[in-house]
Amino acid sequence: MKIAMIGSGYVGLVSGVCFADFGHRVVCVDKEASKIEALKRGVMPIYEPGLEDLVANNVRENRLSFTTDIAEGVRGADAVFIGVGTPSRRGDGHADLTYVYAAAREIAAVMDGYTVVVTKSTVPVGTGDEVERIIRETRPDAEFAVVSNPEFLREGAAIADFKRPDRIVVGTTDPRAREVMTEVYRPLFLNQPPILFTERRTSEIIKYAANAFLALKITFINEIADLCEAVGGNVQEVARGIGLDNRIGSKFLHAGPGYGGSCFPKDTRALAKSAQDAGTPLRIVETVIDVNERRKIAMADKVIKACGGSVSGKTIALLGLTFKPNTDDMREAPSLAIVAALEAAGATVRAYDPEGMEHARALMPNVVYCADAYECCEGADALAIVTEWDAFRALDLDRIKRMLKTATIVDLRNIYRADDMRRRGFSYTSVGR
Ligand code: NAD
Ligand code: UGA
Repeated sequence: MKIAMIGSGYVGLVSGVCFADFGHRVVCVDKEASKIEALKRGVMPIYEPGLEDLVANNVRENRLSFTTDIAEGVRGADAVFIGVGTPSRRGDGHADLTYVYAAAREIAAVMDGYTVVVTKSTVPVGTGDEVERIIRETRPDAEFAVVSNPEFLREGAAIADFKRPDRIVVGTTDPRAREVMTEVYRPLFLNQPPILFTERRTSEIIKYAANAFLALKITFINEIADLCEAVGGNVQEVARGIGLDNRIGSKFLHAGPGYGGSCFPKDTRALAKSAQDAGTPLRIVETVIDVNERRKIAMADKVIKACGGSVSGKTIALLGLTFKPNTDDMREAPSLAIVAALEAAGATVRAYDPEGMEHARALMPNVVYCADAYECCEGADALAIVTEWDAFRALDLDRIKRMLKTATIVDLRNIYRADDMRRRGFSYTSVGR
């Protein structure tokens, strides 16, 4: 099959290379010429474990290519995936669909033969109808179907998630489109992932409902962590105690500084907005958004409290800036809110992140960026661990203690044991324990 992927970011590039790895012929299109040039040279625009090798293998096998020319990708394609961004619209939190609709217009102008146009971007319910309308308006003669096929991969584990999904959701009632989508995903059937065919609007809602539910689960355990801190209890044991109930499940119950990233924040906002517009507000989701926003700032207060109530004139070392490990993505990372609050309280922030510093520099220009974890701690009044990169899980704690001015650690990801840290002579604060 020939597949075109419009948009070669996290989702477009990872999906594209995985489809190629399944044996399909894939053309990844992006309008950003520098991104395509870099990809042609084998340079990845994102940090994602395993991606570079997988791209190189599939380019070598002539199954994967890159272009800025949408016609080159779309002509002769059986399926054209839209994987462009759907960021929050300024002001009201609705998903900005400008890129999706522009892509639909561009695809329509160049498509030939029966084409299945697949929306992989996360889009509000009803977007598929509008994409269909746009294509029909641009090309009244065209033979096509518009399908919703949301993506559930996580950054940092994107390739494994794509290749071994918990489920595949396909929103279409068109039998011919269903056949094409079955062919697209046939190579995966060996692993027998459930493939759920459903109506297009339902498929669009599934994506937002999944992300909102996961955001809710995290926010729930974060509030339980606050309760544990207030009354005495251990949130990790509570999470285990409830997670062992199969109806609840143990995943996404790690208390921390609040969820961030390019998806949960914007998708919960977009879902809340769609529901408000429909006259059926989702009060739970609205509360999740609010609680999570407050939490990020409350994490700075935790650091300030650990420093004796003031950080004015003090230096705080931050380990981990990205919203989660194994990515260089800084979008809506809790570190952004924490750094802003600490700086506003008069602190100087030193930081180290294995992959995120290049993006972080542009977003947080006053931070002093360091070469490694130890340099970061040098002369700091306290250390805050914000992202649980593996490299921070086994730090030489005696060395860290020597580097810090005072042996104070705020562990916002609960990666160390409280009793051990106290035994080593640290003033140690964590989350919900
Ligand atoms: P991204 O910003 O990393 O990539 C989008 C790319 O699309 C950019 O490179 C941009 O230049 C390109 N683009 C925009 N308009 C174009 C056009 N007309 N023609 C060609 N290229 C165009 O975004 P992303 O993180 O990959 O997210 C894409 C969509 O997938 C979003 O809706 C997001 O919510 C959803 N999603 C993302 C993830 C994730 O982990 N990042 C997971 C599941 C779903
Ligand atoms: C999330 C979903 O997990 C994917 O299924 C979905 O496809 C994607 O959004 C999307 O729609 O784009 P991602 O944002 O890459 O994926 O990362 P997650 O692993 O879900 O983490 C999101 C945030 O929640 C991070 O800040 C993470 O630290 C936080 N988190 C996660 C917790 O605080 N506790 C947990 O138990 C889990």
